[in-house]
Amino acid sequence: MNPAIHAEPLAASLENIACEAFEAATVADKLELMKRLADALVSKPMPQRASSLAWADSVRRPAYPSSLALVSPQKVGRRRLGSTRGRAELIHAIAHIEWHAIHLALDAALRFEAMPGQFMLDWLGVAIDETRHFAMLDQHLKLRYQASYGDFPAHGGMWDMARQTEHDVVARMALVPRVLEARGLDVTPAMIAGLKQHGDPDAAACLALILEEEVRHVWLGTYWYRQACTLQGLDPEAHFFDLLKTYHMSRSRGPMNLLARQQAGFSALELDRLSLQGFN
Ligand SMILES: [Fe+2]
Ligand SMILES: [Fe+2]
Repeated sequence: MNPAIHAEPLAASLENIACEAFEAATVADKLELMKRLADALVSKPMPQRASSLAWADSVRRPAYPSSLALVSPQKVGRRRLGSTRGRAELIHAIAHIEWHAIHLALDAALRFEAMPGQFMLDWLGVAIDETRHFAMLDQHLKLRYQASYGDFPAHGGMWDMARQTEHDVVARMALVPRVLEARGLDVTPAMIAGLKQHGDPDAAACLALILEEEVRHVWLGTYWYRQACTLQGLDPEAHFFDLLKTYHMSRSRGPMNLLARQQAGFSALELDRLSLQGFN
């Protein structure tokens, strides 16, 4: 088979399925379309961009189940792991993060058309991982807590960083995988311990698997961040801290997961500066 002949139609169909999956609002439709995307990716095409979607110039927002109420973060409330409801709310909140992560990865794959085909394949692959994470948590919510995604109010500001970085692949890679997903690496060990302590070892096992896979997502963010910096003649370490300042990334409390961050490609200099400054 001559790859040159088949590259464009395959790319077009990958992009079209990814677009449909992004726009699917119900859990069942989203999972079905992401399965179609995973099946299409198995043939491992190296896509040429089809660019028929005009995604790069458009504003996209995630689609949600109609039952989901999006509220300001202050109204989400503290989840107390000592109560059944508190644990269900925590699992729901993480499922909501994974739901967004599906959209973030699809958007990265479709939006930054100047990036190589491997960039698109990598982020479509991440979207498939995120779908598996979401599906595990949604399933656990059903089996253990008789609840579904959409049953509790959820954080309404999670797409803000995607909007702010939709013009700039360097900023997107720096601030979504290397800040938002990297914070997940920091906070997940304590959640795993809390869930075990409060009698939900199955949820703890889900989060342990998610943590393992998220290291690779942040690593991919690091890899493509550095590639994009090189293409634009930017110093990756200096520019990362400039971006944190420009985008007013807030201080976060709690320790960093240094081992996971090292595995995800943070340099010693970056980790030292992050520890000193308390940013990220
Ligand atoms: Fe995830
Ligand atoms: Fe992720």
